[in-house]
Amino acid sequence: MSEVASKGLEGVVIAESAICSIDGQKGILRYRGIDIADLAPHTTYEETAYLLWFDELPARKQLDEFRARLAEQRELHDSVWNMLTSFPCWPQPMEALRTAVSALSSCDPNAGDETPEANLNKAMYLTAKLPTIVAYYWRHSNGRERVHPDPQLGHAANFLYMLRGEPPSPLEERAFDMAMVLMAEHEMNASTFAARVTASTLSDMYSAITSAIGTLKGPLHGGANARAMEMLLEIGDVGRVEGYVTEALAGKKRIMGFGHRIYKTTDPRAVVLRGMLCEMDAQSENPHWCNLALNVAETVHAKKGLYPNVDFFSAPLLYSLGIPTELFTPIFAMSRIVGWTAQVMEQYKDNRLIRPLSRYVGREDRPYVPIEERHE
Ligand SMILES: CC(C)(COP(=O)(O)OP(=O)(O)OC[C@H]1O[C@@H](n2cnc3c(N)ncnc32)[C@H](O)[C@@H]1OP(=O)(O)O)[C@@H](O)C(=O)NCCC(=O)NCCS
Repeated sequence: MSEVASKGLEGVVIAESAICSIDGQKGILRYRGIDIADLAPHTTYEETAYLLWFDELPARKQLDEFRARLAEQRELHDSVWNMLTSFPCWPQPMEALRTAVSALSSCDPNAGDETPEANLNKAMYLTAKLPTIVAYYWRHSNGRERVHPDPQLGHAANFLYMLRGEPPSPLEERAFDMAMVLMAEHEMNASTFAARVTASTLSDMYSAITSAIGTLKGPLHGGANARAMEMLLEIGDVGRVEGYVTEALAGKKRIMGFGHRIYKTTDPRAVVLRGMLCEMDAQSENPHWCNLALNVAETVHAKKGLYPNVDFFSAPLLYSLGIPTELFTPIFAMSRIVGWTAQVMEQYKDNRLIRPLSRYVGREDRPYVPIEERHE
């Protein structure tokens, strides 16, 4: 009988991939071989998408054409907009996104075509439209008119414009772009695995991405950023950090934004985001979040030996940009879309159905009892 793999598949390698690598001991993350510590401060989200899909950073002309192609696809088809505005009850933004992504295929001219070219077009279609879904739904559910995309703005700046109704400052644009780059891809995490399992049945890209969004939603995965912010808001002040952390750990509570299956040191994405958060804070009229977050990170490390992950510093950074916590996980999804789609396309390229085993530990050899003879 086969050995049962470690619980949670810890340490199990389930595929060969040329997209992303992680050195969890040293805290290094590379997209297509390039260290994110070099990439994130210099590239835009569009360049990162190009790198993940085509395995090369784009030259200037390639980037201009690529940006234009993405920008022209941002608007939503009326049928998806009508669906978003006609939910009988108000779903949470992440639920609305999951449902809308599933519905997007109905209007995609490439849906039903499973060639590599068509799948790349689907990846672009999804990447262009996810921010529009998030911004439109948020404004609509808060009784505000939607703000249509501006094709002159970059991918990150356009999202902030559609959400807030005014273009961001250069610093805000850079901070948000960097956060999106850092959330774009992360090897065989739970949502990527879910997407690859769905793709391995030769189901379509939309089904794979819908699986991924449902998986990202959980608090042990992408849902942690909103919870980390709620915790920082609850703590509120540096003077309350020690007491909060001590009580949480004594009560065996999970501290959101800390710990990681792979990283045994600070998550390298958290390092870059921490720098950006503190730079933004230094320029703000009421600096607050950098000091508080650093204090929480030091205290959690001192008391439990846990390091902060991407969610811990992305949370106050997004909050400082005026983004409501309900949108943190949808923003994670609209950033991760380029990684998910790259992974799905890689799965299709060399596919074999992912179908592991389980070991049966239930009762054996039970007789069938007719309903007349069963007792409660
Ligand atoms: C990410 C995470 C799910 C990884 O978990 P994992 O590799 O399965 O590790 P485990 O859940 O087995 O935890 C191992 C130990 O560390 C503790 N631990 C891990 N993360 C913790 C956290 N954030 N707060 C408190 N304790 C934590 C566990 O309680 C456990 O301790 P124990 O051995 O005394 O019971 C986990 O660190 C976590 O829940 N973090 C909070 C959620 C989060 O930030 N998720 C985003 C990840 S990018």
